[in-house]
Amino acid sequence: MESRMSARALTIALGGWRTREPAYEALADGIRLLCLDNRIAPRTALPAERELALALRISRSTVSMAYQSLRDSGHISSLRGSGSVTLPLGRREVGRILETEGTIDLQQASPPAWPGLAGHMADVAADAATLASRSGYDVLGRAELREAIAEHFRARGLPTEPRQIMITAGAQSAIHLLASVLIGRGDRVAIETPTYPHAADALRRAGGRLVGIPVSPESGWDLERVAESFARTRPVLAYLMPDFQNPTGRSMSVHEREAVELAAGRSGTRLILDETTADLDIARGFQDRGFRTTDESLVVRVGSLGKTVWGGLRVGWIRTDHDLIDRLVQERPAYDLGTPEFEQAVAAGLIPRLPEIARHRGEYLGEGRDALVSALAERLPEWRVPSVDGGVALWVELNAPLSSALVLQAREAGLLLAAGPRFALEGGNERHLRIPFTAPPSDLRRAVEILAEVWPGVLRDAPHGVRDLWSSPSELESHRGSHHVDNTRASTASSRLQNCPSAWNLRSRGWKRFAAKCSPCSSRPTRTCPIGPRPGSTTRQASIPMGMSCIRGLCICVSLRNRT
Ligand SMILES: Cc1ncc(COP(=O)(O)O)c(C=O)c1O
Repeated sequence: MESRMSARALTIALGGWRTREPAYEALADGIRLLCLDNRIAPRTALPAERELALALRISRSTVSMAYQSLRDSGHISSLRGSGSVTLPLGRREVGRILETEGTIDLQQASPPAWPGLAGHMADVAADAATLASRSGYDVLGRAELREAIAEHFRARGLPTEPRQIMITAGAQSAIHLLASVLIGRGDRVAIETPTYPHAADALRRAGGRLVGIPVSPESGWDLERVAESFARTRPVLAYLMPDFQNPTGRSMSVHEREAVELAAGRSGTRLILDETTADLDIARGFQDRGFRTTDESLVVRVGSLGKTVWGGLRVGWIRTDHDLIDRLVQERPAYDLGTPEFEQAVAAGLIPRLPEIARHRGEYLGEGRDALVSALAERLPEWRVPSVDGGVALWVELNAPLSSALVLQAREAGLLLAAGPRFALEGGNERHLRIPFTAPPSDLRRAVEILAEVWPGVLRDAPHGVRDLWSSPSELESHRGSHHVDNTRASTASSRLQNCPSAWNLRSRGWKRFAAKCSPCSSRPTRTCPIGPRPGSTTRQASIPMGMSCIRGLCICVSLRNRT
């Protein structure tokens, strides 16, 4: 056991976990998803059953059964003296889909490498002898690359000397380093919500207490909250993505930039502006990026080639004043001793070409966005899809707060996504799903097919309390009617059942073996198996457990043989 999670922390992380019945399975699913998302690390002790029951205001037996289900599915083990501890996710764990053929992975919003990259790398490699003759250790970064980046800023209208630039191993490494230098334990840090989760993790781990600034695709940044929270909490830092914010895709208007700058100036808050996604412009055109009037030392800009060129390149940078660069240089060796020489040489040749590369990226992302938007309009018209003119993803509003349940079901069907709460500061966002448009259009269309196939089952399996919030019976019927079923899908669903959490938990309740049969969803809502028991068979027909009744548009009938 390496760490312990309090009942309060788990309650916050679980957010609106009651997405299906029975409640203990919904709770177990919520914890499974937190494990899959790495929000609960392996070897973390979960709260005692009684404490969690109190915090969640449910009975202790519900928590007990949820923990039992997690034990049966191999997510936790119970150790004497340590309580229930999460296990590393291994090959056979439920919900874990390894790189199997046909799986679409949209957990990360990372476009493929820019097509010119491989050729450029080969050219740089031809000069390997010169590269290898250098010392290789340089925490600040290669002079020629820093000059290229400074020139890039100057071309944008921001006078910059190479001495104001530090090269890092990607933007994440820059954020982590800045957080460790600038944040003291308990310091307030303002951050958008929803946000880029790894930045939130880095700021939290450095000791920051995060203060959320809501941002939405439709109405942008909540400026009232900005003014109020900056004045009241006086954050030492604000981490913001003013251009093509991840995950909403929204960019700040000139007015929003000015209002944030004003509030930060008044409270003496240093702004970290993450520009990793800022060049991913599909149709916005020129936008003055602002934040120029404030004291130079209060604005830190972070950039990266991770999205424009390739995530595997691991080259990012920090632009700030000399004093902070000096502090970063002093602090950095405790984390790493510099950015690899080869990658820096590759990057130095690419920075002058960024406008051309960004244009190409915009075209690629535009095709993905359009394919995704039109597939969603056709297959899931009840979801609210924002209109974005750049970035990497759509922050889609579902017509029910069931993002986590949807992600778990989509996983079963071969589509990996991060659920809305992953982008929240403290739980919530169950009504939203981030769908990246960084994959090829054919994958995106297939992803929407899968979502459309599993969504009716997720809706149907939600407890009435949740369901009543969002859906009328006729709406539910219209989802059902949209299924299209064929035999191939029937057998796929049948084989997927081997990994179905519900099947696991049925087994844990005493059933020793199971077999699956599939039939098209009937148009009538039913929770009992439409295939009757075969004459003379000893097989008992189980009623279809919630969460399992519909996978990819199929009614799954489980026949369980109880050996006793
Ligand atoms: C907004 C934002 N900042 C930073 C990063 C991390 O970038 P890098 O790959 O350069 O570390 C990402 C990657 O997804 C991102 O979306």
